[in-house]
Amino acid sequence: MKSQAEVTMGLATHSGSGSRRSGSRTAKDTVLCTLAHAYAVTDCTLTLDDDANLGNRLFGSSDDNFKVRVGALSSFTASQQRELFEVLQQNMAPFYGAHSWKTKMARQKKKESKQTDARFAAVFDTQHANDEKLAAFMQFRFVEEEGEPVVYIYELQVQANYQTQGLGKKLVALAEQQGNRANQALTSAPPLTKVMLTVHKSNERARAFYRRLGFDVDDISPAKSDAEGDDAGYYDYEILSKPFS
Ligand SMILES: CC(C)(COP(=O)(O)OP(=O)(O)OC[C@H]1O[C@@H](n2cnc3c(N)ncnc32)[C@H](O)[C@@H]1OP(=O)(O)O)[C@@H](O)C(=O)NCCC(=O)NCCS
Repeated sequence: MKSQAEVTMGLATHSGSGSRRSGSRTAKDTVLCTLAHAYAVTDCTLTLDDDANLGNRLFGSSDDNFKVRVGALSSFTASQQRELFEVLQQNMAPFYGAHSWKTKMARQKKKESKQTDARFAAVFDTQHANDEKLAAFMQFRFVEEEGEPVVYIYELQVQANYQTQGLGKKLVALAEQQGNRANQALTSAPPLTKVMLTVHKSNERARAFYRRLGFDVDDISPAKSDAEGDDAGYYDYEILSKPFS
């Protein structure tokens, strides 16, 4: 999702915040500490196969047929990675147009998904007839936005047959809870402040879903940050966020 903004504006990842990064080197270092800490907490706790794993608690209760795996793309099998990109293509190609998807977006999404700071939470249906089947996934990262450490949801995709069963909501909850969990163990570095994401303006369904979950238009979204300019209407995406309580 985040890449929509980058494509539309021709920006590289996070270059939006780079030019406005001010303050001392120390302040920036503390934000980097927070991000490193959040990755350490996530990589340790979400990959555990026990009750400390929030994913197990969210998806693995006895009446659930789902289980979640979290890690970098390389931690998933080749066939699971294929499933991930199939769901992504089925859900998102209509928003980019078939031609743009084939010539540009598919390649860009694959490249983005291999970046070292990308983490995937993938939900599998363990009751599927043949084998485990991918039902939904989220790609998330801990990043700096406008000088603040945040959790950024890059992708949230629920396979069509599994939509409206609460999986999207649980994946967003996983991102929120992981951010809160990282914050709890932080002492001197600044806390992660919010969960952010980018959504196509034309994706009414997803926008309604995020509103339902308590997300609002973020101050850096063009509609707000460029409110006085003439360009806000030019952008085909908006940036939403939800602060940590
Ligand atoms: C948008 C999407 C992620 C939602 O996931 P989902 O699993 O279908 O949604 P959930 O079942 O978790 O819904 C959670 C809540 O949102 C509500 N909701 C879901 N879709 C909604 C909609 N279109 N309008 C209003 N509310 C909606 C549900 O009623 C539910 O409310 P409740 O908690 O009170 O019961 C999913 O439909 C999807 O993957 N769509 C295609 C890809 C996409 O657009 N991704 C987002 C890109 S930014």
